[in-house]
Order: sequence, then structure tokens, then C-alpha cells
Amino acid sequence: MCGIVGYTGPKEAYPIIIKGLKRLEYRGYDSTGVALLNHGLKVYKKKGRVAELEDNIVGKDLHAHIGIGHTRWATHGEPSDRNAHPHVSASGKLAIIHNGIIENYAQLKQELVKKGYSFTSDTDTEVLLNFIEEIKKNNKCDLEEAVRVALKRVVGAYVILLIDEDDPETIIAARKGSPLVIGIGKGEHFLGSDASPMLEYTKEVVYVNDYELAIVKPDELILKNLGNEKITPYVQKLDVELAAIEKGGYDHFMLKEIFEQPQTIYDCLRGRLDAIAGTITMSGIQEYADQIMDANRIVMIACGTSWHAGLVAEYIFEELARINVEVEYASEFRYRNPVINKGDVIIAISQSGETADTLVAIENAKSKGAIVLGVVNVVGSSIARTSHGGAYTHAGPEIGVASTKAFTAQLAVLTMIALKIGYEKDILQRNRYMHLLNGLYEIPEKVAWTLKQNESIKAIAEKYKDARDFLYLGRGYNFPVALEGALKLKEISYIHAEGYPAAEMKHGPIALVDENLPVVFVATKDSYHHKVVSNIQEIKARKGKVIAVITEGDDSTAAMCDDVIIVPEADEILAPMLSVIPLQLLAYYIGVAKEYDVDKPRNLAKSVTVE
Ligand code: G6P
Repeated sequence: MCGIVGYTGPKEAYPIIIKGLKRLEYRGYDSTGVALLNHGLKVYKKKGRVAELEDNIVGKDLHAHIGIGHTRWATHGEPSDRNAHPHVSASGKLAIIHNGIIENYAQLKQELVKKGYSFTSDTDTEVLLNFIEEIKKNNKCDLEEAVRVALKRVVGAYVILLIDEDDPETIIAARKGSPLVIGIGKGEHFLGSDASPMLEYTKEVVYVNDYELAIVKPDELILKNLGNEKITPYVQKLDVELAAIEKGGYDHFMLKEIFEQPQTIYDCLRGRLDAIAGTITMSGIQEYADQIMDANRIVMIACGTSWHAGLVAEYIFEELARINVEVEYASEFRYRNPVINKGDVIIAISQSGETADTLVAIENAKSKGAIVLGVVNVVGSSIARTSHGGAYTHAGPEIGVASTKAFTAQLAVLTMIALKIGYEKDILQRNRYMHLLNGLYEIPEKVAWTLKQNESIKAIAEKYKDARDFLYLGRGYNFPVALEGALKLKEISYIHAEGYPAAEMKHGPIALVDENLPVVFVATKDSYHHKVVSNIQEIKARKGKVIAVITEGDDSTAAMCDDVIIVPEADEILAPMLSVIPLQLLAYYIGVAKEYDVDKPRNLAKSVTVE
């Protein structure tokens, strides 16, 4: 969380930084700030969105060829002008922006207070900056050396960018645990939390690793470790186009991303699944196929929507490959000293590839001898790099804070892995395997069909938008879909929503049911369908309002419900990729009807790089 941008080179820095910050706003939007160096340091910052800062500083002196910018998701100190980054050091010469948390900041602050420092903000970042300045002063060293010394004492996660009035061409950057990309232009360099701020200028990037320090000048990039030894930068080519990070005529990124799903699922299958030959080619999985087949258990680790994808995959893997699967919240897994045996396979699922809890959980598991496979969307991200193997989801940049297309792409990848392993393990017979391969191949087309329900879903959203609570129910493969539907509604519309296994609702949530409670059933035709229909009856008997996602042609279920949304028929293993689509749209349209900023819901951030 928090977006950082930097630029040094011959161009005007301010427009590049502001545009970059707008693209990184998905990472946090509590406050915005820029620091520019041009015959002295100029800092402009403000609580609120990037556009608000931009309006506020019209007419100010913004001319500079070097600068840094920040969009914040508050951790230490409430969102306010004074807690906004960049922070300026006591001497007024250094400015810093920071993404992460300095855990031992209180101790460092105490030391600095004893030395006479006072602070203008409540942030850990201002403490770190003055700690660096104090070292620079005491050791009579340059900024680079002071940062190196300071970071050896710092506990926590960070990406920091610093500029210094005394060295007006250089940005010093360092990373541990949060992402940092450096774009290499001709006589210029760009820095960002991801590559989006630099896409129109360069396709050549360096992903900085943990414990590395970058000295960035217009025509020079030096990478060093904290021991002051030089490291050769590994330059990679980006394959993201500018259009992928623009709205392309849609009102919101979320809607665009929902509508992209026929294409993104197709992109995910393309080159991997051959439904005629009956093959699934995934080199990052193939390499570990024997270990997966022999694994006593697979542990899926993830957070948020990705965790829901893991839950669906649990059902699929156990059914198709007969391997015991456990699904863990990364944040719980990492702290509870879990039993990990050599040969356990960990599948880490993450859109961003940067979620701090997932990243640390993987590292713990790796250190205990587990094999870690990443199912990740962002190419070159930390989780992708730290995993032994895995498969990218190829959904393209997801910018709406609430995850949509990443979820269906994760399901597509996880289903392919389960099919491949189940078949190679001889659990899955050829007929069923070929049937599922063909079914998976048809999913993009069926998603496109489902999206045609758009207008009727919008009407249902209008009807129920003022409800205070929602209940989402499903069984089997559709139970995690119910959880995901409830999460989407909470995130986007701020309506309280709970997802529950349909049968389990009798053990508690049924007490909530009255004529004001909309209950969303994920009730597509599967092996549990008749049971779910009984649950629908139980809700209707208590006057609850039932909205159901049902399979095309299921007229008898339709007749029991207040509102229905139809999806095409599909094998139950594949059905979640279809049944989740109406729930994404329902949440979206309720959020829009309530006039909320669905792309940037309050308090959330897309990439959670703090614990
Ligand atoms: C945040 C996002 C969610 C996402 C979760 C996990 O909470 O708002 O949409 O599901 O992080 O993120 P990851 O990038 O690891 O999938």
C-alpha cells in the first residue's frame, strides 16, 4: 500500500509524477504529496486524492527535473496534511517518501528526541528520515552511506525514496518487503511501486530486490547491497501496453475488468490448454509435477479474494487429484508455527504478488523445506520471484481495488493444474478429463453470455440497494463463490454482507431472516442443487427475499425466487467461473447506485504491503 513515484532526467518532473501517482492511487488514497528539487526543495502535500492536490497547487512553482511523489494509505498517523508524505528533515534539506512500516520507530524516535529533535507529524517515516539525517551529520558521510547505516538498524518493511538539496540530480532508493521498479530511459530514470508510471517512456525495467539500495542519476543507475557491494542490475522487458491501464470508455476500471473476463480467461488458457490433443502445458508446474503428485498435502496460502479462489481450488484438487488440501489465511499461517513437512507443496495465490502476509508466509514455508508454487498475476512481482515455480494468471493489470478478473483467472489456472495432476496421477479418467478440458475451453464464451445479463442485474441492484444487510449462500463449489459475492458487496457498497454455506445457515444466520433481508443464493445445477432448493424454501417460508443465480432452463427454481440471474449450464467444477460474474456486477451496480467510488472504496488498498 502507498504508491511511490520518482523521476530524474531532462524532462519536467512534476507532470510525470502526478500522472504516475494517478495510476498508483489504487495503492492508497488518503493523501498525496510531491517534493521537487530546483534551487532548493519544494514540497506540496495534502489530505485527499491526487486530483485535489493538483487543483490546489495550480500556479505554484512546479519547475524541476527531479522529484518524488507519494499517494498514501495511512498506517501511522491519521490521514491529514501534516502526516502526508513527502516528509522533510530537520535541516530542511532532505525529503523522503515511504511505503511500509518502520516497526522500531518509537525507539528511534526516543533516541532522536533526546538529541533535541522534534517532529511535525505522527509518522514513522519522519522518524526514519531524521535518523538518516542524524547519521549523515554525525558520520560526516553522504546520503547514500547514511541510508545504508540507518537501514541496518531498521526493523520493518519499506521502500524509500530520498532526495537531497546538496545533490540535486540523485534519488537514493532502497527496498525491503515492498515493491520498487526502476525504468531506464535515455538519460533519465523513473521509479515506481509498479511499472505503470513509466509505461509510455520506457519498456526496460529493473525490479529492485530486498536489501538493495539504488543510486539513481539521470544517466546512471547503481545498485548495491547493504554491504556497499555493487550488484549488476538485471534489466527486463515489460510486456504491458498503455491501453491496459486505461479505462477504455468504461465508467470505472471495475466494470471494464468485469467485462474483460472472456478475454482474460481466454488469455490464461491460451497456449496451455489444447482441448483437441488433450494436453495442458504449464512449464512452471511441469517441473514440479512429481512432487505435487507425491505430496501428502497441498496448502493454499492467500488473502482476500485470492483466498476464496484457494477455497474453490480445494474442492477441485480433492475431487480431481485426490490430494488433501488445506486453505490458509496467510496472516494466520505465518504466525502460528504451522506443521510443515518436507514434501508439502504450498500454492501461494496472489493478484499483486506483493501482499506482505502471503510473502512472509511463503518464506517461512520455504525455510522449512516446502515447495512453493505461485499463482500470481503481476509478472516479476515479489511472490512470483520468490516461488520455486508456478504459473502466471495473465489477466493483465487489475486496477479496480475490488478484485474481479484476477479471481476468474486464478480459478482457470488452478483448475488446469488440478486437471493436469489428476490426469497424470491416473485419478482422472480420460473421458472425464476430456469433458472438463472441453468445458474449460468453452468458459470464455459462457462468461460473455453471462455478461449479457448486465441490464437485468442493474435493475436488481436498484431494487435492493437500500437493504441494510445481505446474506449470500451456496454449497460445495459455490460456497466460496457466496463468500466472494458477500466480500464484493461489502467492499464496494459498504453494506454488511455475510457469506455462508447454505446448510449451515440453519445454525445461526437464519435468525436474521425477515421480509427486509435479501438472501442471494448461488444455486446453479450441481450435485447439491436439490439441497440448495430446500434452503431456498426455508428462507421463503420466513419471508426472506431470494435473489438466485440459477442455471439456464431451471424454471422450477426460478418460480420460487423473487429475482433470478441466469448463467449457462456448466460442469460443477467449472461453474464458479460463471456464477461469480453476476455477483461482481450486482455489487458494482449497488455501489454505483449509492454513488460510491467503486474503483477506490474507502479504507481499502489494492496491494497490501503491510501486515
Ligand atoms: C487486498 C485487495 C483484495 C485482494 C487482497 C489480496 O485486500 O483489496 O482485492 O484480494 O488484497 O491481494 P493479492 O494481491 O495477494 O491477491
